[in-house]
Amino acid sequence: STASPPPRRRKEQWGSRLGVIMAVAGSAVGLGNFLRFPGQAAQNGGGAFMLPYFISLLILGIPLCWTEWTMGRFGGTRGFHSAPGIFCVLCRTPKARYLSVFALLIPLVIYMYYIVIEAWCLAYAWNYATGDLMLGKDSAAYESFFADFVGIGEDGHAFGGGGSPLLLFIAITFVLNFILIYRGVAKGIETFCKFAIPLMVVCALCVLARVLTLPSDQVNDGLGFMWNPKPEALTDPKTWLAASGQIFFSLSVGFGVIINYSSYLTKKDDVVLSGLTACSMNEFFEVCLGGLITLPAAFIFLGVSVASFGTFGLGFNALPNVFAQMYAGQLFGFLWFFMLFLAAVTSSLSMLQPFIAFLEEGFDLERHASATLLGIIALAGSLFVVYFSAGLKALDTFDFWVGTFLIFVLAMIQAVVYGWVFGIDRGEHEAHIGAHMRIPRFVQLLLKFVVPVYLGVIFVAFFFQNVL
Ligand code: PHE
Repeated sequence: STASPPPRRRKEQWGSRLGVIMAVAGSAVGLGNFLRFPGQAAQNGGGAFMLPYFISLLILGIPLCWTEWTMGRFGGTRGFHSAPGIFCVLCRTPKARYLSVFALLIPLVIYMYYIVIEAWCLAYAWNYATGDLMLGKDSAAYESFFADFVGIGEDGHAFGGGGSPLLLFIAITFVLNFILIYRGVAKGIETFCKFAIPLMVVCALCVLARVLTLPSDQVNDGLGFMWNPKPEALTDPKTWLAASGQIFFSLSVGFGVIINYSSYLTKKDDVVLSGLTACSMNEFFEVCLGGLITLPAAFIFLGVSVASFGTFGLGFNALPNVFAQMYAGQLFGFLWFFMLFLAAVTSSLSMLQPFIAFLEEGFDLERHASATLLGIIALAGSLFVVYFSAGLKALDTFDFWVGTFLIFVLAMIQAVVYGWVFGIDRGEHEAHIGAHMRIPRFVQLLLKFVVPVYLGVIFVAFFFQNVL
């Protein structure tokens, strides 16, 4: 059972404090920041979305993020790195491992579709580098490029087998992820994130500067389209669910990912300031870069029709028009998609690591054997997505049920385990070992009393409105 003493494996640890922050921030900053966030905001009230968004960040996101860092290190310093193991030591009963199945399965399932989109990013970066994506001002050309590339059939459904170039890019993406995972936490994940994140900042700032220096009335209209508040959205429970779902997705909170990453910390490491730093970096990427680039730019060139593109369609159908019409669009198109690709890699790595830890711990496999086994499972899943999923709309629907709904459930489980089983007093003590700053006491009370109720109310309201 997972509750038996941990086996004598070589112990993995992060190389440096900066490294672990970069790895967690790398997990957080991803397609969610640049594609999902603008799409969610536009669909759920524009600027008004920011109210539930920031409330969710302060009440749910940051506090739950701290609990994950804390619980993860607690389990890790007792020899457990997988969610089942960690939940067992937290709850002091082997039965608790069943609570953690979502924490294993959600990241793996998300990985299976996330990596396909990651491969699209790489392919688009490549096609900008070669100039093949400079198709002029005809927006239909980009839609057919995309449809051909991902293999959407005549009826607009099913990726329909994805042509060979797509499979090539999936293969490259897959191998890159695999090599990094295979090398391990410090040598693979940490090293890559430490170089990718600064590079992403540079690329994104270049694109932002380009977008904001378009003619100013256009920029105003573009920003207005995304940010003008539609207050009526605030009375719809779906807006609140979407806002908290976006916070979870974006911060990688409620996935079992941070629990796993922080289990490679030691007693000497700080979790409070590190957690806060990673959250802040994520918000900078999301609100300042994602929020100011993707949708405003698309609106400037395409007008209100951008609303019809859906979350992922926006990135691949709408944005190429933008680059076609701006000066030096080829360069900026390349920078943009390359940046998206890096952001996606640093996220997808974190979706694999929890399951690897589980295979190592639960089945006593070596890291290399676990990575290989997981690689095979994940590849099979991704190919399934490529060949059998039913197009972009289906991707959005799927993303809602796994990326918003299930995360919600898992976040609730984590909040209850922390607040009511592990206990906020132990939690508070544990969080401050090695810490460089204090978490205000009221946050603990918030976690115990407010968070579960807040999650529950949104959940029930949404359920009544949409499911029943
Ligand atoms: N946070 C990532 C993003 O914004 C997505 C992610 C989900 C990463 C789950 C890890 C685990 O794109």
